[in-house]
Amino acid sequence: MSAVNKEIKRVTTHILQKMKQDGERISMLTAYDFSMARIFDDAGIDVLLVGDSASNVMAGHETTLPITLDQMIYHASSVVRAIKRSFVVVDLPFGSYQGNSKEALSSAIRIMKETGAHGIKIEGGEEIIESVKRIISAGVPVMGHLGLTPQSIYKFGTYAVRATEDAEARKLIADAKLLQEAGAFAIVLEKIPAQLGKEVTEALTIPTIGIGAGKHVDGQVLVMHDVLGINKEFKPRFLRRYLNLYDDIYKATQRYIHDVKGRDFPNDNEQY
Ligand code: KIV
Repeated sequence: MSAVNKEIKRVTTHILQKMKQDGERISMLTAYDFSMARIFDDAGIDVLLVGDSASNVMAGHETTLPITLDQMIYHASSVVRAIKRSFVVVDLPFGSYQGNSKEALSSAIRIMKETGAHGIKIEGGEEIIESVKRIISAGVPVMGHLGLTPQSIYKFGTYAVRATEDAEARKLIADAKLLQEAGAFAIVLEKIPAQLGKEVTEALTIPTIGIGAGKHVDGQVLVMHDVLGINKEFKPRFLRRYLNLYDDIYKATQRYIHDVKGRDFPNDNEQY
């Protein structure tokens, strides 16, 4: 091990648990490729999620449903090769776990074996709890995902805020407790009222990580393309943009085209 590696304390499920206990917020971003994962890891992100949002932002699909297990493995192994410190979680894609808990376990095992990631994320509560237990009993850390679960978009019919009605909110709290009892190490809460995010967070000993779940959850996650402003059209209320890369890349591309067409690039110093 190099001197540099000795100094790096890798993020683990125990560290994430301690962060909740100490009141230190957990930072999480999605990543799908080596180069971006390296920057996020160097900058000190705690958790990198290889989300099935790759289906939208990398492949251009309308939903997360089309992405395959093989494609998730390709993205995840690229991310894992880049990181020195962050904890890497990979989404089980639609169709890779709903059949039964045996199928779920074999998908999780493929991800762990073929990518070197540190855990998997799975959407749903009570209906997938047997799969969660089976995956955890094989030694694979599991992150839950409740609230707006994009793999069920055709059941919901809309990307609107979830669990605004009491019955759905009670079910979400019950599902969160079930996931914790089954051994999940953390739960993503997507697009739910801030007050419900607070209630769930206070009811659990494991960390909650929100995306549009308000400020009382234990950590925050956003999609890389949204944070960096690569997507121009997507402007949900919960999003804070830190860059406007679409505009920067657009302008840089126009300058490059101008320089090539005008025979300004390459100049004498830029050739052999
Ligand atoms: O796939 C994804 O990017 C996600 C986040 C929205 C949490 O699941």
